[in-house]
Amino acid sequence: MDIADPMGRYRSMFDLPAETIYLDGGSLGAMPATVPARMKRALEEEWAHGIIRSWNDAGWYFAPQRAGDRIAKLIGANEGEVIVADSTSVNLFKVLVAATRMRGNRRTILVEKANFPTNVYIAESVARMMGCEIRAVDPANVLAAINEDVAVVSLTHVNYRTSRRHDLEAITRRAHEAGSLMIWDLCHSVGVMPLDLNRHEVDFAVGCGYKYLNGGPGAPSHVFVAARHLSTLDQPLTGWHGHAKPFDFSESYQPHPGMERMLVGTAPQLGVLALEEALKVYEDIDLHAVRRKSVALSSLFIDLVDQQLAGLGFTVGSPRAAEERGSHISLVHDHAHAITQAMIARNIVNGFRTPDMLRFGLSPLYTRFIDIWNTVAALKEIVEAGAWDNPQFKVRKLVS
Ligand SMILES: Cc1ncc(COP(=O)(O)O)c(C=O)c1O
Repeated sequence: MDIADPMGRYRSMFDLPAETIYLDGGSLGAMPATVPARMKRALEEEWAHGIIRSWNDAGWYFAPQRAGDRIAKLIGANEGEVIVADSTSVNLFKVLVAATRMRGNRRTILVEKANFPTNVYIAESVARMMGCEIRAVDPANVLAAINEDVAVVSLTHVNYRTSRRHDLEAITRRAHEAGSLMIWDLCHSVGVMPLDLNRHEVDFAVGCGYKYLNGGPGAPSHVFVAARHLSTLDQPLTGWHGHAKPFDFSESYQPHPGMERMLVGTAPQLGVLALEEALKVYEDIDLHAVRRKSVALSSLFIDLVDQQLAGLGFTVGSPRAAEERGSHISLVHDHAHAITQAMIARNIVNGFRTPDMLRFGLSPLYTRFIDIWNTVAALKEIVEAGAWDNPQFKVRKLVS
């Protein structure tokens, strides 16, 4: 399968440790091999020698727009509809408040249960601020719960634990039929599947730079606003970089007419430059081919789990139907944490999600089919031999 894989050639675009099987690209993507040279230039020439002149001369100032335009191509948006800024949490806050303000006569924010915690925390705070109530429903009940009270529907396309994927098109359509606005969190979908936000008339979206986009630890996030909303969008964090003319230092706030109004303060420039460089891997990539490989990897994973791990206490925690899942597979096991640590000790890096999930992020640009084979073989060995049952594997580290 690896020999026949049309995506196989992309692996060489990453600097991956030779002895490691890396299955955590849905948490922190691998490093594209050209990033160090770009960062060296950014540090040694642009920062050290250009110093402040580099905001103009090295093109630093417009890097958030340039990186945003690259991401726009991956999510079915137009140039000028996506900008790189802040964290996903902050961007979610901005679009939730802005969307709620656009539907001022409605008092409900519809969210899903079991979403990533930041989404829940931010929505609750926005509801308090805006005098709204939160309606939190099971993912399967979202469509039925959208009615004329709902100002905004805010969902994550692919669930961070289970990999369950919402029907973005049907839910967006239903939200609009009810007169609601739609926000999608694309953290676990951007870069691993085709997305077509404008075709489905999505209103707002946020996404992550450090997962499948490989932008590096803490890479800035991105935000999408459909062009039709830009002129009326009242972004709540009115920082100077969202101003129409930041360097006029005017005392009154006037929002930028374009996507720049989603900016707040000065960009974390080194992070934006690393992300911009990393995104070059995606130049001319066919996301349908990426998705085909993602499905082939995850289907192989599930088949091997069924075949090899029966009776060892694992259950598949992700949808078995490929069209219902994203690009990671979760396995549930009573000893998930210790097994994950035992895997990492063997240089097979997967993630753990409390209380009982092993999460395997499959990055079609660099994950090989043989990696799946070896991963399932290691899981089998570790559980059959009881190798996980070791005090060193039971210590919880700060970051998992
Ligand atoms: C679905 C989802 N939304 C938001 C976030 C948080 O992103 P950030 O750390 O950029 O705020 C994560 C992080 O893993 C996530 O999985």
